[in-house]
Amino acid sequence: MDILGIDFGGTGIKGAVVNVQTGEMTTVKHRLPTPLGAKPEDVAEVVADIVHHFEWKGPVGCGVPGVVIEGMVYTAANIDKSWIGTNAVQLFSNAAGCPFSVINDADAAGIAEMTFGAGRGKSGVVLLLTLGTGIGSAIFVEGKLFPNTELGHLQIRGKDAEKRASDAVRKNKGLDWQEWAMRLNEYLNTLEALLYPDLIILGGGVSKKADYFFPYLKVRAKIVPAQMLNEAGIIGAALYAYSQFHR
Ligand code: BGC
Repeated sequence: MDILGIDFGGTGIKGAVVNVQTGEMTTVKHRLPTPLGAKPEDVAEVVADIVHHFEWKGPVGCGVPGVVIEGMVYTAANIDKSWIGTNAVQLFSNAAGCPFSVINDADAAGIAEMTFGAGRGKSGVVLLLTLGTGIGSAIFVEGKLFPNTELGHLQIRGKDAEKRASDAVRKNKGLDWQEWAMRLNEYLNTLEALLYPDLIILGGGVSKKADYFFPYLKVRAKIVPAQMLNEAGIIGAALYAYSQFHR
């Protein structure tokens, strides 16, 4: 079955039709820039444009960069604060005219990696981090998601980890790979001391450049780059929608 997956990120909103049985995208990805300030109504318009681009009428899954419980958004670290208390399911369904299911973006990426990527068949405790504009997290225990963990906001040296070790910080501060990897390593070790995962999967666009920074990471857990790169958010959102609409 095909479902439209959409990933609302800090810089772009991307969508593609996904075959939820194979995890493959059956269309070319369509990407539009995230509107300045990322206000709910403006984002909903872009989400609707993506739906119309695919002339889509069926179910849609969308990942958003905040805590989402039953469609309601509870946090907004890198998006407009008026998202807090917004029912994203209603907002997007009304704007686009199709049924939506909405999930945290990192949880979506995690579901995709656990189903078709680096976490496939992995038991024990798996921690996935997405390193992008912010840092998102997803924890799986024996393959089951513990939703809405916000480990990018763990304090490191008095600051949110995502303000020290996200990929955006690497770019904005012009850190070289080693400098950035040392920050990331400190964060990973702090997480490890609290959670002792068996496997850590690092995702986000930067996972394509794993060779540049993996050699500097020293943790007890096995650590691997995500396999689905920037597509995990889209594919995972579609998989999540499928699980919601077919309960
Ligand atoms: C948000 C998370 C999100 C992550 C990645 C963080 O700032 O609080 O909910 O998953 O960014 O987008």
